[in-house]
Amino acid sequence: MSKQQANRGSFSSSIGFILAAAGSAIGLGNLWKFPYVAGNSGGGFFIIAYFLFALILGVPVMLSEMVIGRNTNLNAIGAFQRLNKKWTFVGAIGVIGAFLILSYYSIVGGWVLKYIFSYLIGADFGADKVAYFNNFVASPVEPVIFHLLFLGLTACVVTLGVSGGIEKASKFMLPALFILLIGLVIRSLTLPNAIEGVKFLFVPNTEVFKDASTTSNMLLSAMGQIFFSLSLGMGIMVTYGSYIKKDSNLTTNTFFIIGLDTLMALLSGLVILPAVFSFGYEPAAGPGLIFSIIPAIFEIMPFGSIFGLLFFTLVFLAAITSSMSLLEVVSAYFIDTYKWNRKKVTFILAIAMGIVGIFASLSMGPLSHVTIGGLNIFDTLGFITDKLLMPIGAFCTTIFVGYIWGLNNVKAEVELNGMKFYFYRAYSILIRYIAPVLIFIIFVMGLFA
Ligand code: PHE
Repeated sequence: MSKQQANRGSFSSSIGFILAAAGSAIGLGNLWKFPYVAGNSGGGFFIIAYFLFALILGVPVMLSEMVIGRNTNLNAIGAFQRLNKKWTFVGAIGVIGAFLILSYYSIVGGWVLKYIFSYLIGADFGADKVAYFNNFVASPVEPVIFHLLFLGLTACVVTLGVSGGIEKASKFMLPALFILLIGLVIRSLTLPNAIEGVKFLFVPNTEVFKDASTTSNMLLSAMGQIFFSLSLGMGIMVTYGSYIKKDSNLTTNTFFIIGLDTLMALLSGLVILPAVFSFGYEPAAGPGLIFSIIPAIFEIMPFGSIFGLLFFTLVFLAAITSSMSLLEVVSAYFIDTYKWNRKKVTFILAIAMGIVGIFASLSMGPLSHVTIGGLNIFDTLGFITDKLLMPIGAFCTTIFVGYIWGLNNVKAEVELNGMKFYFYRAYSILIRYIAPVLIFIIFVMGLFA
């Protein structure tokens, strides 16, 4: 190992890596999107589709990213550049994408902080929770301050380095998150009528096969959800993979991360949906679900403000472990390429993301008149990253690995230290034929949806 590589830092153990990568995967996507999308797109059928796509799409793409990272020991841009100069752009898509995602992800992280503070000081969200939330996000100062605070906290962890910051924080945060989630699942499942929420999530709803469009919608939502939820196509697993030791088993790591992410998605569903149904609400997508319906429920539940505090702490832990990975992708590029000092780079980047995020936050209030193709700045950032950069980045990764760099190199990296690549044949078919076609479909349909 060269001196430069030794200085980059590394995860101290496979379990440290798995927790950090699972921390990246488990995030707002699991908590506010999965329960709603699953319930509304066929329940049990969606979940079967989700498992299937996790296997045929999630596993090969995540493993490929991890292999590229560990093989090169470099950040996303450096890694592709090392393997083939012409494909450097794939790494650049990841670094730019991570920068943009964090600019708006941290706004939502800031909202979560605000709700935690509100619960700490006595939780008064007024009579109309929807109006309270809408007024809050549209106001010019408070959400910006919380957004900057959230980014600042993220930067503090990332400046401490890979093993001293990200790994340490993940080793504490993921178990804490899991315990909170289990506690809240128990609370939620013991509410009257909780079973209605469980049914909404799990009972296969044959309505989705009513016509071709509902069926294809279900399949598309499942694929799209897999992508965002597993943090694919954004250089995350390349960057984190570059810090894994050579004796770590990459295939086992992949299954663990995907398994944990899926488990947490299902558990989130079991927290949110039974509570929503028990109190007679209709589940909604996005921010409305956790920032309006959930506080309304906790207000009437006995000891609700304690559960509210625990719930938002859970969301905070999920969000910050994801944002650490996003910041690390961008920081690692500058550290590797220009040998800049980690502390300095990380804070400069956080400030830059903070500034972009300020505009995105204001776009829900004073700057709401600034729109691009009908979308405000916040939604435009989401569109660019989720609908364009992520699928393009992942598509190019499959083509690069399957046809340019070559599967033999992947096999050699996975099999280092005598590890076995049991499903190599399946992997090669998936990465060359199935995954690129599916990702292409998500991309095209996503643009028109
Ligand atoms: N996977 C994270 C979530 O579910 C979001 C994320 C996407 C993080 C892409 C990093 C990269 O919320």
